[in-house]
Amino acid sequence: MKTHQNPWGDAVVGWGALRALGDWLRAEPAPRRIFFLVDENTHEACLPLVQPEVPDGCAVEVLEVPAGEGSKEPEMALSLWEALREHGAHRDDVLIAVGGGMVTDLGGFVAATYKRGMRYAAVPTSLLAMVDASVGGKSGVNLASLKNAVGTFYRAEGVFVDPVFLETLPPREVAAGWAEMIKHAYLDGGEHWNTIGQFAEADADTVERLIQLSVAFKARLVEEDPLDRLDVRAALNAGHTVGHALEALAWADVSEEPGDGVEAESLPMQDAAQEPLLHGEAVAAGLWMESWVAEGRGLQPTADAAALRSLIRAYYARVPLPSLEAAWTVMQHDKKNRTDEVRMALLQAPGNSVVLSAVTQAECAEAWEAYAKTFV
Ligand SMILES: NC(=O)c1ccc[n+]([C@@H]2O[C@H](COP(=O)([O-])OP(=O)(O)OC[C@H]3O[C@@H](n4cnc5c(N)ncnc54)[C@H](O)[C@@H]3O)[C@@H](O)[C@H]2O)c1
Repeated sequence: MKTHQNPWGDAVVGWGALRALGDWLRAEPAPRRIFFLVDENTHEACLPLVQPEVPDGCAVEVLEVPAGEGSKEPEMALSLWEALREHGAHRDDVLIAVGGGMVTDLGGFVAATYKRGMRYAAVPTSLLAMVDASVGGKSGVNLASLKNAVGTFYRAEGVFVDPVFLETLPPREVAAGWAEMIKHAYLDGGEHWNTIGQFAEADADTVERLIQLSVAFKARLVEEDPLDRLDVRAALNAGHTVGHALEALAWADVSEEPGDGVEAESLPMQDAAQEPLLHGEAVAAGLWMESWVAEGRGLQPTADAAALRSLIRAYYARVPLPSLEAAWTVMQHDKKNRTDEVRMALLQAPGNSVVLSAVTQAECAEAWEAYAKTFV
């Protein structure tokens, strides 16, 4: 087990991290009462593993929200504030988010704002939440269709990352989280990049080690740029310009809204069961296509580009591919752009940061075509 420090809450990562949660709950100042925030899936699959860690004599309330991104909204935060008030919650009670990134983002936001901040800890249960959403202090809700429009940075007193939860996580969600890990590993380079390809078939020790490396990498960037103001975290946008556009247009198709005018950061709130495309699946395709552009520019060495793209080709199915024209319009609204040019965080050799650069529609057209021919 390892502890990775960052200003927004140290993360204890490894098999048995749940026991560290129990130790923390018994340490002074021990909370009198715990509010667990769960969705219906993590209530059933994950909370039973967490509850035995609650010390004797500590009261427990469970707040459940429906699973899916649709719960990450101001109305849900309002009903959670009201529920806390009805239970007479105090600032020194602790709210513990037990769930994926939706639950940890919503839980962090509610904890940060209720009575100007109650005690907070996170138990991430999806792979994406373990290596990404629960590390770095960002919390928030969506506003209408604008993702993460309202939120704050808030410090968790502890983040307890136990791979045990992967046993019940649906395989599609595992693959989606792994896409972000592949990105972290490439940017980190060295042993991390050399071993990330083993994740899908890894033994328990390797799974633990790869999650630790991924959390450590994200925590390092967060430490350098805690408020995400210095472009340090820009590297994390690799694959995301194309990825966000694919995601926005896949959801737009489901809701039968026209692609034009859909902002890259804006997704229609859907019934989670429809799930046309998960964020991580879009990121995997985005990494593949942006790597084509980066290699074409001479930024990413051919052998490294080939290794990254063949890893993605081996494990990810073709995503719904919108027309480049529709995607281009969405990409022009990406938050990295200064004008209506399209900027991407382009990869270099493993272990290096990205080059933030404007790309042309012709470069994207080549990547689009190559993707369509490769993923048949
Ligand atoms: N704060 C940040 O820095 C940050 C970074 C990346 C993503 N995010 C946010 O994270 C969210 C996406 O996170 P996500 O992919 O974890 O989605 P999610 O929380 O919706 O979880 C995905 C699905 O997996 C289920 N689930 C989670 N853990 C489970 C388990 N162990 N067993 C069975 N089912 C389980 C959930 O109930 C849900 O149905 C988005 O809202 C995104 O904006 C935040």
